Amino acid sequence: MTIAVIDRGVGIDAEDLTRAFERFYRTRYAHDNAIQGVGLGLWLVKTIAEAHGGTITATSTPGEGSTFTLTLPVPSAGHDTEAKAPP
Ligand SMILES: Nc1ncnc2c1ncn2[C@@H]1O[C@H](COP(=O)(O)OP(=O)(O)O)[C@@H](O)[C@H]1O
Ligand SMILES: [Mg+2]
Repeated sequence: MTIAVIDRGVGIDAEDLTRAFERFYRTRYAHDNAIQGVGLGLWLVKTIAEAHGGTITATSTPGEGSTFTLTLPVPSAGHDTEAKAPP
């Protein structure tokens, strides 16, 4: 399963994008413009995605926006994929 989230925000430049998923990393734009945050959001998404066998990647154009792409494995055909009520 692939989910893409697209924004038309400030974007993230190539150098910051290589580090944006690191724990506590904040972009220079965030620093320079006093954008609030501690740099945990994307690291949390990556950690949770990978814990489920998935991936998260991003592409971005400064001044235009960003696309975040989450992939998650789904059960192969033949498995019972019906949602079950908790016990
Ligand atoms: N969609 C986005 N567009 C531009 N900058 C972003 C976007 N998402 C995150 N950033 C920036 O990338 C850095 C890492 O983001 P994140 O891990 O979500 O930190 P935080 O928890 O502080 O929001 C932060 O400096 C944040 O401002
Ligand atoms: Mg965030």
